[in-house]
Amino acid sequence: MAILQILQYPDPRLRNVAVAVGTVTDDVRRLVDDLLETMYDAPGIGLAATQVNVHKRIIVADVSDARDAPLCLINPTIVQAIGSEQMEEGCLSVPGVYENVERAQAITVRGLNRNGDPVELELEDLLGVCVQHEIDHLDGKLFVDYLSHLKRTRIRKKLGKAQKQL
Ligand code: NI
Repeated sequence: MAILQILQYPDPRLRNVAVAVGTVTDDVRRLVDDLLETMYDAPGIGLAATQVNVHKRIIVADVSDARDAPLCLINPTIVQAIGSEQMEEGCLSVPGVYENVERAQAITVRGLNRNGDPVELELEDLLGVCVQHEIDHLDGKLFVDYLSHLKRTRIRKKLGKAQKQL
């Protein structure tokens, strides 16, 4: 297992569109484990492979207080979305920024689990929002894209400056 480096907005590689995983091999499982370890270490409640510069359709999440309920979805697709709710979101690739975003209140998502078996899950509230956020990453989309142009420009300037100072 390894802790991977997380790309930071406005890194252009966060805009790559990830490709579907063909077969869930040991290499894919190793990446899933690394994603989970990186997410727990950060710490965060979700992480997409895109964020560690691996452009494959893999996401992980854990919204439990005890940090003992890891969820992994390979090739996740939202097949149904119901209702809407606003929740404050953050992102490990956009450190220190928390803003309200409107998402579906409940989703049905299909994908493969760590063993490569097909799964279908009904998710709502925080976990549902988290999975919607992570799937966006696979399409090169960030939560700041839902904010006003002015807000996004401010965030980009702030984080761009912080990165130059490193
Ligand atoms: Ni994120």
